[in-house]
Amino acid sequence: MERITTPELAKAFIDEQVAALKKQVGDKKVLLALSGGVDSSVVAALLIKAIGQQLVCVHVNHGLLRKGEPEQVIEVFRNQMNANLIYVDAVDRFLDKLAGVSDPEQKRHIIGEEFIDVFAEEARKLDGVEFLAQGTIWPDILESEAGIKAHHNAGGLPEDIASRFELVEPVRILFKDEVRMVGNELGLPANMVYRQPFPGPGLGVRCPGAITRDRLEAVRESDAILREEFAKNSLEGKVWQYFTVVPDFKSTGVKNGQRTFDWPCIIRAINTTDVMEVTAEHLPDELIDHLVKRIIAEVPGINRVLYDYTPKPPATVEYE
Ligand code: XMP
Repeated sequence: MERITTPELAKAFIDEQVAALKKQVGDKKVLLALSGGVDSSVVAALLIKAIGQQLVCVHVNHGLLRKGEPEQVIEVFRNQMNANLIYVDAVDRFLDKLAGVSDPEQKRHIIGEEFIDVFAEEARKLDGVEFLAQGTIWPDILESEAGIKAHHNAGGLPEDIASRFELVEPVRILFKDEVRMVGNELGLPANMVYRQPFPGPGLGVRCPGAITRDRLEAVRESDAILREEFAKNSLEGKVWQYFTVVPDFKSTGVKNGQRTFDWPCIIRAINTTDVMEVTAEHLPDELIDHLVKRIIAEVPGINRVLYDYTPKPPATVEYE
């Protein structure tokens, strides 16, 4: 197939896929785990166009999403696109399971397992669903074949659920830039389509050690400020990935003549082409000064802001 490089080609792809999806699904129902990331959002929008209410989207809020994300999923898909969306508030469930767990791999494992459990519970409640849609894209298939990563949920789903479904993967032949073009053409908001990569375990890996609700909120709030300032300064879409980390130690500070004992907030902004090697983005001094002021003034529990200039290697992008 010709690569999708223009809006016209994206439109032709959409028309073709909508016809193919209608043919494949008929009058049956399709289930989709909708995270709000680019791939699952584009799959949702394609399926809504093709089969409307026969698509059942499940959005699991595991408490580790960025500020405003669950609200945006509800606004875009339920309110604007009139999708059949099940919103699962699993925040307490995830955070209770994670309480006191400090090992990074164990944290990842709990988040992954719990996600599958929650999704499988929702799937079991539904009658007459014969298809499972996934946002698998071409690089996922290449990586799976090369044994680098096992991708996506079907593999992890319990047998009684996985065996019930036929897979629907309408963007499996696309690269990320093509998925974004298709998303644009389907009318998804730009901040959804051009969003920076976000890890599956979410803010959990940016709250190193055992996650506590107050420190997690400090990560979420500082991340929201960083994203807002990057957008205002036209850095969105130019810097590959940017986020904040709030580590689990405190240091002494002073505010209004009183001693404080609070966490630092670390800013990380990186560029890369292949994620194997990464360089730190050097931000303008004024922007750093402004970020320091805003984060200290607006985020409870933070009394110091640090900037991470370390490339990969030796550091990885995430802290866990
Ligand atoms: P690292 O930290 O390995 O990150 O240098 C490289 C890229 O991968 C993302 N990342 C993850 N993505 N699940 C994901 O879906 C994960 O557990 C995970 N860990 C890291 C990271 O955000 C960066 O883009």
